[in-house]
Amino acid sequence: MENFSLTKHELIQLTEDTFIVSFNEWIEFEPTQFIMIETETSIVRKPFGLGRWNKRLAIGVQIIGPGTGYIVQQNVLNAHGPCGRGFVPPGGKGAMIATPACLPMAMDLKERHGCDVFIGSAEELSIEIPFPLVVGDEPFLNLLRSLRGYNWFLIVGSDQMEKVSYDVLKDKAEVFVSFNEYMACGIGACKGCAKETRTGLKHLCIDGPVLRGEEVWS
Ligand SMILES: Cc1cc2nc3c(=O)[nH]c(=O)nc-3n(C[C@H](O)[C@H](O)[C@H](O)COP(=O)(O)OP(=O)(O)OC[C@H]3O[C@@H](n4cnc5c(N)ncnc54)[C@H](O)[C@@H]3O)c2cc1C
Ligand code: FES
Repeated sequence: MENFSLTKHELIQLTEDTFIVSFNEWIEFEPTQFIMIETETSIVRKPFGLGRWNKRLAIGVQIIGPGTGYIVQQNVLNAHGPCGRGFVPPGGKGAMIATPACLPMAMDLKERHGCDVFIGSAEELSIEIPFPLVVGDEPFLNLLRSLRGYNWFLIVGSDQMEKVSYDVLKDKAEVFVSFNEYMACGIGACKGCAKETRTGLKHLCIDGPVLRGEEVWS
């Protein structure tokens, strides 16, 4: 784990509130690992999943408050990482189900492991993406119901989207979920990200963020 500065290469707007930020620098990371980014809006750093876009290190950012707004505006960001366990897919055919803010993570997983990627969005995107995109809740549910022949799924998005997706997919294949809940330190020091699981208490920043869905949900 290191401290480093990242300089912004490009800011790509996807929807009214969601952006891809790509950087001039590269750091080594594993799929679903994240960095903790400093902001001037809070004393705690903010976690963002690492990925790639147009062959550069990138993160997706959905603006939900002052920290995410700051990250989209700044040209230089200080961060530490990579944090968390990298996701190692089990064998067989897999697919990642994700929201637009997770596009860089999805691109990374696709390039490393050749899995399929499906993006569910509340609104149309302002760029073309190289993955199937469904817009709206009902089309998204229909897509999930139609998925067959997979050995594993990885779901990354909002809490609500993840639980809905898990409920549809859990009987079709092994389902992994990235639990992107509130984190303060990202390095196992504050115990703020503790989660009850069937196999005991886990700290999502070091034991996750990806867990088997069935460890947390029935
Ligand atoms: C491991 C991990 C990876 C993440 N990766 C990404 C990513 O790739 N792209 C991305 O856009 N976001 C990601 N997030 C979420 C992102 O870190 C938060 O959206 C961000 O910290 C919010 O900061 P803020 O100052 O803008 O909002 P705040 O002012 O901190 O919060 C605004 C509102 O959102 C709620 N909130 C804040 N953080 C979370 C959260 N983690 N889960 C649910 N509700 C929350 C607050 O309770 C508050 O109501 C990730 C989170 C984790 C834990
Ligand atoms: S965020 Fe501090 S222990 Fe996980």
